[in-house]
Amino acid sequence: MKKSFPESDMRSWFTRKRCGMFIHWGIYAVGGIHEQERWRYGTPEKVYEAYKDRFDPRKFDPASWLDMIQENGMEYLVFTAKHHDGFCMWDTNETPFNVMNTPFGKDVVGMLSEECHKRDFPLELYYSCVDWHHKAYPNLGRHHEIETDPAFHDMEEYMRFVKNQIRELCTNYGTIHGIWWDMNVPGHVDESVHEMIHSLQPCAVINNRGYGEGDYSTPERNFLDNGFLPFANLTEACDSVGMNAWSFRKDEDYFSVRKLEKQIALYTALGGNFLLNAGPDAEGVFPSPAKKILREIGKWYGQVKKALTAPPCPGLVKNASFLCTGEGDTLNLILLDPPAGETLNLEGFAILPEEARILNTGEEAVATLEPMSYTLGKEPRLRLRKLPADRMNDSVQVIRLKFAADVIVPAKVPETENRDGIRQDLSESQGICRDL
Ligand code: GLC
Repeated sequence: MKKSFPESDMRSWFTRKRCGMFIHWGIYAVGGIHEQERWRYGTPEKVYEAYKDRFDPRKFDPASWLDMIQENGMEYLVFTAKHHDGFCMWDTNETPFNVMNTPFGKDVVGMLSEECHKRDFPLELYYSCVDWHHKAYPNLGRHHEIETDPAFHDMEEYMRFVKNQIRELCTNYGTIHGIWWDMNVPGHVDESVHEMIHSLQPCAVINNRGYGEGDYSTPERNFLDNGFLPFANLTEACDSVGMNAWSFRKDEDYFSVRKLEKQIALYTALGGNFLLNAGPDAEGVFPSPAKKILREIGKWYGQVKKALTAPPCPGLVKNASFLCTGEGDTLNLILLDPPAGETLNLEGFAILPEEARILNTGEEAVATLEPMSYTLGKEPRLRLRKLPADRMNDSVQVIRLKFAADVIVPAKVPETENRDGIRQDLSESQGICRDL
């Protein structure tokens, strides 16, 4: 896995564009239950695969998808070219089980990539290693697998199919910004696939769920127990607006805007990227609740993005309920939980800023340096007073402190990491506060 990409590397866009949109769309939208309907709900193969004959998304309009994505401040797109069901959303020569053989009959990946190219908007393609349709894939009934006849299983043949398909995706659609693998259940290793992607598509980043190590790690859904330490390697977390599925689900329950904002804030402020997912219905339209959530998050992200994507400064302020980012004359306090009241005392921090501004609303807080009344310590602390506490509950708030001089030195890039790229020990990765 990579710590970063040097500026000269064509993949370095990934370290500048930090929040992307994930879209799960395929014939599973016809069922409207789950992208893994066959595995999770036991729908028989014949019944499921007949969804293909009803896939006719008359309202699919790549321009309106891209408008929505861009208006909401997302900076790249990851789209499901092939999910576990094996259905392909592009015009592939490798299997007839593809979108050209539906009533719709148009190349969805082609239409989307064309729109992305017009706007210079990075497009990555999701590709599932597990394949429930291809007879050669060794479906042995492990997790995310539906047992098939072992007489046909042949990993070599399957890998030939995968490589041919990835070559198609990397050759027929102009610049592709990444291959987003998922579910290499057999743990098969074949770095030659990654080498081929690199040689055909120098801008393409590759995640760590495929046939080799990849460039970055991919924690998913709830992943909060990391001690708030910055990521040692490139990381991209993801979650969906829907609580039960990644694809369109008729009776979906949605996450709160606050919970999703908190996740985005957490991962980006620790140096990672975030992919926010939604699934359009069988017509090609995003459900209204999903659109509303994306709009609200987009508005918020626009207000606080600069602070979230500034370098992480863990340990600079000791309060457990917020994260710090910043550099030079700026320190950002990212309040993962709403403040308990109108005053925030910054533990272990005693430099008076020239300005303390709540980025969400533009309001100013009153900054003072004084000992805290409820502790015995006489040491002065930075206090932020007169916060609009009751109006800070429904969104993740960010306060930006501006100092008269460059006092903030961000954390060093950590050297060691665990599986998800998280440093275990804080000592070297603390930010430093210079004397004025
Ligand atoms: C999990 C799910 C899969 C989904 C993916 C997105 O791997 O099994 O359905 O596409 O998460 O990250």
